[in-house]
Amino acid sequence: MDITCTNPLRIGLRQERVIPPQCLVIFGASGDLTQRKLIPALFELFKQRRLPSEFAVVGCARRSWSNEEFRRRMSTALTEQIKQNKTEWEIFSSYLFYEPVDLQKSQDVFKLGKRLEAIDQLKATHGNRTFYLSVAPKFYASGCKALSEAGLLNDPKRNRIVIEKPFGRDYSSAQQLNKVVQSCAIESQIFRIDHYLGKETVQNILVLRFANSIFEPIWNRNYISNVQITSAETVGVEDRAGYYEGSGALRDMVQNHLTQMLAITAMEPPGHFDPESIRNEKAKVLQAAHLANELEPWECCVRGQYKEGGNQANPLLSYREEPGVNPNSTTETFVAMKLFVNNWRWQGVPFYVRTGKRLAKRVSEVVLNFREAPVHLFDAAGGSPTSNQLVLRIQPNEGAEFRFDVKSPGSGMRSRPVEMEFSYDESFGEPFDDGYVRLLADAMLGDPTLFTRSDEVEAAWRLYTPLLELIEDSPWQLPIYPYESRTWGPAEADSLLAKDNLLWRRP
Ligand code: BG6
Repeated sequence: MDITCTNPLRIGLRQERVIPPQCLVIFGASGDLTQRKLIPALFELFKQRRLPSEFAVVGCARRSWSNEEFRRRMSTALTEQIKQNKTEWEIFSSYLFYEPVDLQKSQDVFKLGKRLEAIDQLKATHGNRTFYLSVAPKFYASGCKALSEAGLLNDPKRNRIVIEKPFGRDYSSAQQLNKVVQSCAIESQIFRIDHYLGKETVQNILVLRFANSIFEPIWNRNYISNVQITSAETVGVEDRAGYYEGSGALRDMVQNHLTQMLAITAMEPPGHFDPESIRNEKAKVLQAAHLANELEPWECCVRGQYKEGGNQANPLLSYREEPGVNPNSTTETFVAMKLFVNNWRWQGVPFYVRTGKRLAKRVSEVVLNFREAPVHLFDAAGGSPTSNQLVLRIQPNEGAEFRFDVKSPGSGMRSRPVEMEFSYDESFGEPFDDGYVRLLADAMLGDPTLFTRSDEVEAAWRLYTPLLELIEDSPWQLPIYPYESRTWGPAEADSLLAKDNLLWRRP
């Protein structure tokens, strides 16, 4: 059975689609992502009856677990979700298998091939295989090579590979990695995952923009004065220092999640709603984007690192005190920066992006600030006039709000801002999916719309090259400012906007 979408132009993203017989192979099955995101997302798909009955998950890692051990560990990790769904879990867990594999050892990968053939027979999965690389990024290239050498990527219609972020560490390593991966599989087999693209609210930006005729005419430099994109977290680095120390906020969040939100906010309407048309438009925006000051990046970028905080009852460690972190670490846990998109639609409109750990609130949002009315006929009740603002709330309280002025009640003619609001929860119930349910289903369906194409990923790295080079060559020019835990980051991030007479929105 061929698992390619017959007509992705019509089928892509539009409707609930049927996942064909499938074997999902997860490398890094003993890791955090598998327990926290992947297996819960698959279980959710199972409960929604979206998985075929000819289905198998094969967990692979170096540990010598048995099928039973893998099932037991996954059920412990999902205790809460299983509580209400014991019978479903019993059935679902019978689809879970385990094979010890060291991706660096070709004999292990060949042995895996044999095991997959046996599972094909047992579960009638027809040789349709999606390989998910949830391993350390340094193993992406060798992992793809090992799969290719074992012949496991030979059939472009049946075999796919999903690669987690970060895809590369900078522009040249991303180019290099693309070369290796594309020598093992063709682009239509390669699914570079960014879980933000799987979020309903990120996809909703597309619908809001392109399904409503009122927004598109004002979605440009004539009406919008600036755009702010924030992804703030209250958590610290948790137990991921090993990865995060070498990554920092710029590589962990900005180059992928925030840049994808920027691309979807700023892209041109695609000619068709098919994967390549959408990805073409995103790639074009990223190619037109640049740091506000590429020659002096320190003028348009602020880096920070969280200090200790909390209170006596609940003290919070500083980043440098976290387990596994170098006590003199210069890894940033906060970044704010200013960018421009140099095209007809956006020329001159600043895009401010910021992200950080241990900030005041968990919130991700895209804020479009509109230009002020050209003439102020009315006094503003609050003192100074406000401009219209559209807030796209990615999470939590998923939804959107629009701010506009109305007459303040009374005998005078004073204006006052009010908000009109849409809430996902009130209209449809809270979205469960943090991205992985949608994206795992799409990968198994072979729909690449919500995955990052090679040129997009390279353009996103190129965008930050001046900054990455500066950090590498003369880090003192871009100091790390310490900030109090549970605040909005260092004061310097506010100064970045103050230079333009602006303020960050306080969500
Ligand atoms: C991941 C980052 O990609 O996204 C994490 O590696 C971060 O550091 C996470 O915490 C945030 O995702 P979400 O969906 O909780 O906003």
